Amino acid sequence: MKRFHHLRLDEETRDRLAEVKVTAEDLIYPYFVVPGSGKKEIIQSLHGIHHFSVDMLLKDISGTLKLGIKNILLFGVVDANEKDQSGTAAWKEDNLISLAIREIKEAHPEMKVFTDVCLCGYTSHGHCGVLSHDRVDNDATLPYLAEIAFQHAVAGADFVAPSAMMDGQVEAIRQELQRISSKTGILAYSAKYASGYYGPFRDAANSAPSFGDRKTYQMDYRTITQAVDEVGADIEEGADWVMVKPAHAYLDIIQRVKSRYASTPLAAYQVSGEYMMIKAAAQAGYLIEEKAMHEVLTAIKRAGADKIITYYAKDFVTKGL
Ligand code: PBG
Ligand code: ZN
Repeated sequence: MKRFHHLRLDEETRDRLAEVKVTAEDLIYPYFVVPGSGKKEIIQSLHGIHHFSVDMLLKDISGTLKLGIKNILLFGVVDANEKDQSGTAAWKEDNLISLAIREIKEAHPEMKVFTDVCLCGYTSHGHCGVLSHDRVDNDATLPYLAEIAFQHAVAGADFVAPSAMMDGQVEAIRQELQRISSKTGILAYSAKYASGYYGPFRDAANSAPSFGDRKTYQMDYRTITQAVDEVGADIEEGADWVMVKPAHAYLDIIQRVKSRYASTPLAAYQVSGEYMMIKAAAQAGYLIEEKAMHEVLTAIKRAGADKIITYYAKDFVTKGL
């Protein structure tokens, strides 16, 4: 008989033998930014997460930094009357996110700022690209994404994170960034699947498509090898970091991507529905939130993620097991 129980004898032994430990430095915390001032409003669909105006955001970020969380990802949420066919509010010079980046970098230069680069939160039709004849036009969208990235880079973003799943988006952004010899990196949402787990986010960002779905540009979850190819293409196009999204339901994809492209940093996004699933089950009394949170974040890292984007970032640090 081979004996294993001594490996699990007590907490100290288990800690010593742990092969994977998630730390605050692994985490990227998402923020939703709204226009105006004095705003910190509860998001109904995403428990514990708020809409912040820039002034209130700065205060919250102080707290986030004190917890040891040094990476944040910004999403802009604009009023319906700001939206148009081409998402002007996203790429105009005085856009909401550029404003937020400037203020954050001034108040908290040590915070690493990642910005979502997409059109869906800013277009009247809610798609991630511009339309021609009611279909998303991949190539016509690229200059818009490059312009958003350019604006964020000029404002001082550490990383731009294109999430539109347009072919060639990384190359278009890389070329634009080279023009201004910017230090801004690219975190590519490379393998982003058309997922049923984005629901709470679309409420929070008011970014649901007004017709159709995103299945013509986001990946089909019945595919595996396409994820590896998408990541490979983004690396060739100049991505510094790549991403698999969602995370919890895609641990196999994380593992494959990591083993194929070991030297490129890999992020995984525990998306809104994956977060709320745990919250809701805990609220209903079916599981203990801290335990489930800790277990799944560890699983995401164990699968191969170097960084985890999660709405749980603060809870992870503040709520022990
Ligand atoms: C849109 C975008 C989405 C998320 C991040 N950027 C959703 C979508 O494709 O509609 C989802 C994040 C989450 O669910 O937490 N480009
Ligand atoms: Zn989008």
